[in-house]
Amino acid sequence: MTKVGIVVGSIRNNSFSEALAKNIVELFPEGYEAEFIEIANLPLYNQDSDENIPEVYTNFRNKVKALDAVVFVTPEHNRSIPAALKNALDVGSRPYGSNVWDGKPALIVSQSPSNLSGFGANHHLRQVLAFLNMPVVQQPEVYIANVHELLGEDGKITNEDTVGFLQSVVDAYVDFVKRHQA
Ligand code: FNR
Repeated sequence: MTKVGIVVGSIRNNSFSEALAKNIVELFPEGYEAEFIEIANLPLYNQDSDENIPEVYTNFRNKVKALDAVVFVTPEHNRSIPAALKNALDVGSRPYGSNVWDGKPALIVSQSPSNLSGFGANHHLRQVLAFLNMPVVQQPEVYIANVHELLGEDGKITNEDTVGFLQSVVDAYVDFVKRHQA
């Protein structure tokens, strides 16, 4: 079983990113297990905590360590990634020398309720993941525009073009993960 962690960049209730992520999870083939990784409960990281590590950090780091791959689904905040997501990346990257993200193949999905689709967040996240040594799918790029119009009241995406696109994204990611597992 390949364990795929889902990290949602928004900590908002009824987040569009979370709803989008749930649709993406449905598209994985058999043999893949998705686990949503909570980031809202992580206190703001500061290096002092390396001396006396909070349990919540240890639990988070252990959860990420156990993953084979990570999918990030995020909104854009002020042309970058949300602070909660950056904090989670920072927590996982420390203490120095024990980066739990290391080597895990990643997929980046950005969304916005406008046409801009979180391009700034998508590319800022690429920059951080490069430093954390996470190989990231380059193509297809995944920018989901007008996300609120795609999600039904039940949170499901029914637009055939979008579902077909997301399936092609998941297929490419599954191939990518296999290549990195070999
Ligand atoms: C935003 N939003 C936003 N949208 C965008 O396209 N570019 C941006 O730079 C910003 N900046 C921004 C800053 C802050 C602090 C907030 C709260 C929001 C709007 C954002 O795209 C919208 O809230 C998300 O799509 C909501 O996604 P979730 O939180 O429902 O997943």
